[in-house]
Amino acid sequence: MDFQEKILIKDFEIDRKINGYFKIENINRRIKKNGEPFLTLTLMDKSGKIQAKIWNNVEYFYKLINTGEIYKINGYVNEYNNKKDVKIEKIIPVSQDDKNFNPEDFVEQASFDTEKLFDEMIKIVKLNLKNECLIALTDLFIKKFKNQFEKHYGAQKIHHAYKGGLLEHTYSIIKLLIPIAEYYSLDKETLLIGAMFHDIGKISEFDIEPSVNTTLKGGLIGHIVLGNDIFIELTNKISNFPEDLSTKIQHLIISHHGEKEFGSPEIPKTCEALCLHIVDLLDSKIRIFKKEIENTETKGIFSEYLPVLNRRILIPDKS
Ligand SMILES: [Fe+2]
Ligand SMILES: [Fe+2]
Repeated sequence: MDFQEKILIKDFEIDRKINGYFKIENINRRIKKNGEPFLTLTLMDKSGKIQAKIWNNVEYFYKLINTGEIYKINGYVNEYNNKKDVKIEKIIPVSQDDKNFNPEDFVEQASFDTEKLFDEMIKIVKLNLKNECLIALTDLFIKKFKNQFEKHYGAQKIHHAYKGGLLEHTYSIIKLLIPIAEYYSLDKETLLIGAMFHDIGKISEFDIEPSVNTTLKGGLIGHIVLGNDIFIELTNKISNFPEDLSTKIQHLIISHHGEKEFGSPEIPKTCEALCLHIVDLLDSKIRIFKKEIENTETKGIFSEYLPVLNRRILIPDKS
């Protein structure tokens, strides 16, 4: 078996054999209608992710494999619900000293320079700040979170689920908010600081190494409350940080999901909070649309029903 041939997930073609190294990101053991078990996995490399299934020797493979580890995998690319899907035939564990792969090849990288984008985001925020306490807070934010913020994912799945995703999402929101804040004469300083911190809790909500996994805090408390705690912790380090300003920014953080049923303890009650919520939703939905368009192959015009968007979407002609 030749594992040297490196085909990236983004280049998988239907009905083709695959043979190479992949990281397993997710493992689920499920039961077929006839009572027999099967496994659904997520495979990944630096180019993307793909769903895979194991129908044979299920119990053997279930014991053998772990999430976050790299394996040699052999199988076929199928089509399932208009999406590519891998039928796995063989999985072989690899040793630490296997020189045929580079662990860096299994981290989904951003398509941009994360350091540059982080600096650009800070530049935009600082250009719009006059309040000394908010300038000091931004400096603390850089000192404490620059490294993590540049690397972290924006979500575990669905949108911005890659290295730099949190940064790209936050940057996009900040960029979009500036003209909106100007148009409606909103409090730009509160809005931009709220935007910068709105998803910071994701840093403690889930780990990205060795694989993407919800932490205990993340599962039981969630990024909204965790992010608000981080914000309070930083403002406590700044002497005389105005309490009302802190409360208004906390309101932006805790209401950004818009509704209590979506995890926000309070609904937006200021124009700034409403604006952040809507732009946050806009950015995540547009990314999901774009990703689905990119990943969907269809012989018709519309996609299959996509549970994530609760609709079928128009797939533009890609030829
Ligand atoms: Fe969020
Ligand atoms: Fe967000």
